[in-house]
Amino acid sequence: MPKPLLCPPDLLALDLSGKTFVVTGGNSGIGAVTVGQLAKQGATVVLACRRPAEGERVRAELVAAGARGTIEVRALDLASLASVRAFAKDVLASHASLQGLVNNAGVMNTPAGKTADGFETQFGTNHLGHFLLTELLLGALEQGAPSRIVNLSSCYHDVAQGREGRIDFDDPSFERRAYDGWAAYAQSKLANLLHARQLAKRLAGKGITPVSVHPGWVRTNLVKSFMPVWAQNWVLRPFLRLSGMIEPWEGAQTTLYALLSPEVPAHAGAYFSQLGMYRDKAANGGGWPLRSPNPNAHDDDAAERLEALSRALVGV
Ligand SMILES: NC(=O)c1ccc[n+]([C@@H]2O[C@H](COP(=O)([O-])OP(=O)(O)OC[C@H]3O[C@@H](n4cnc5c(N)ncnc54)[C@H](OP(=O)(O)O)[C@@H]3O)[C@@H](O)[C@H]2O)c1
Repeated sequence: MPKPLLCPPDLLALDLSGKTFVVTGGNSGIGAVTVGQLAKQGATVVLACRRPAEGERVRAELVAAGARGTIEVRALDLASLASVRAFAKDVLASHASLQGLVNNAGVMNTPAGKTADGFETQFGTNHLGHFLLTELLLGALEQGAPSRIVNLSSCYHDVAQGREGRIDFDDPSFERRAYDGWAAYAQSKLANLLHARQLAKRLAGKGITPVSVHPGWVRTNLVKSFMPVWAQNWVLRPFLRLSGMIEPWEGAQTTLYALLSPEVPAHAGAYFSQLGMYRDKAANGGGWPLRSPNPNAHDDDAAERLEALSRALVGV
């Protein structure tokens, strides 16, 4: 198995005192490692999560493991636009400027379902919730510039279990077509990538660098909507590792690189990938940055249309 790409150690030793980051889904998996590492380097980190008691438990663990910065646990349910608005208001009340927003939270291959506002669960949670959150925090990111926005996409934006990532502009919420959990995940992860690409165009010259990342195939709770996490973590773990599954600390490397490397602002809007599974096997080794093999990931008209559609749907 090829070795995962790792962040240069000097980036993970930078002093981040005085800098503030928001990480969604900070109570689990890749998000929890990201929060812990930024706080270990002295940053103030808003750990956004839909289960604050769980967020507090993780905060205590990260503090015990050496986080010397401040970790603030705040409630955010991305499947509710009202919750996104309340969270943003709460954050802005105490942080007028931000150096980073990590749109990390996500769900994968969920059963057919709708968010509180009637959007398909994965498009609504993974993309629309983050789209609104980003819009509401843009002023603080501009105030805190140089700053970064990191969207957690996936190599599944290319092809997810045989479904090519594409945005169905006529029916993004599967109201007039049969629901398919993998097609919905691929659509939402392509949306994360196109969102960063379009933001880079819009925000040029403002000192904010938006990018998207694929973290690798990572041993986290993401599989919980379609298989028991214990089976992955215990029964199948040795086999999955041999097949390329990596640990959460390895899965956080691409996010941390995207947030901290001085090389990233030269690649605003780009896609950064850990080891992955792509239609073009030459891309499987990843790259910081990597040219996506999916032609839909390079479609600037689609990126613009997605912005317009998202604005209309979330009401900004
Ligand atoms: N793991 C992989 O192999 C892999 C591969 C490619 C991309 N990714 C991406 O990486 C990101 C992080 O996932 P992970 O692997 O670390 O999985 P994870 O351990 O399941 O973490 C996902 C996080 O998102 C949160 N979340 C889900 N729905 C939410 C909602 N409605 N509101 C707020 N938070 C919500 C979860 O909260 P709860 O704990 O309350 O459920 C959890 O904190 C996701 O965007 C995923 O698509 C992961």
